[in-house]
Amino acid sequence: MRIIATKDYAELSRATASLIAAQVVSKPDSVLGLATGSSPIGAYQKLIEWYKAGALDFSACSSLNLDEYVGLTKDNDQSYAYFMRTNLFDHINIKPENLNIPDGMNPDAAGECARYDAVIEKFGGADLQLLGIGRNGHIGFNEPGAAFVRGTNCVHLTQSTIDANKRFFAREEDVPRKAYTMGIGGIMLARKVVLIASGADKAEAVAKSFFGPITPEVPASILQLHRDFVLVADEAALANIPG
Ligand code: GLP
Repeated sequence: MRIIATKDYAELSRATASLIAAQVVSKPDSVLGLATGSSPIGAYQKLIEWYKAGALDFSACSSLNLDEYVGLTKDNDQSYAYFMRTNLFDHINIKPENLNIPDGMNPDAAGECARYDAVIEKFGGADLQLLGIGRNGHIGFNEPGAAFVRGTNCVHLTQSTIDANKRFFAREEDVPRKAYTMGIGGIMLARKVVLIASGADKAEAVAKSFFGPITPEVPASILQLHRDFVLVADEAALANIPG
């Protein structure tokens, strides 16, 4: 595990964008595993800026998004498909046919999970997987549980996640209760994993995940076993780490 410690969110976003840019420059047909949530927005803004300045070309890249809410259409402004379009894809030259994300409108959970696992398998995993982290240590939507789940799965969101994500919805009742998420196996298959943690409300999750035991009760803790894992965190998120 490598830690890039930054002063604040702006520095963290720049460092994260630099890692993604380095990936795209060194392998133009990179498979980018991408994440939603507020954490990666600053990095996506930097990538857009560098693309517009002519420094980056995404035309041969593919994306492999982590997760999607069940029951939201691609055009619902709370869907992760919509988030990715508005925060990144609409502003760079990645090709629409190269975008991959679970289909939240497929009512056949087993079928959708199998379909997405086949997509991940076809690529052999992402070249670089970007992750945020939930306050309870979740990655993607892999919530704390009794065992690590390998494949893409349909999860029932925990109350902690519903509480954290309700700020984006008009009413708590509007937050979907289920999501499709790439499993831990799909995430670990990535050649490189970059996790962003910003702010004091992530400090406990960071300490538990990366400085505590590896346990499915803290899903991100498995990243301690990844051969190329980079934690990009700001001072506030690193406040509880030992030493
Ligand atoms: C959601 C997403 C995760 C994300 C997490 C943290 O639950 N499924 O992929 O990492 O939120 O979000 P934020 O970055 O807004 O704190």
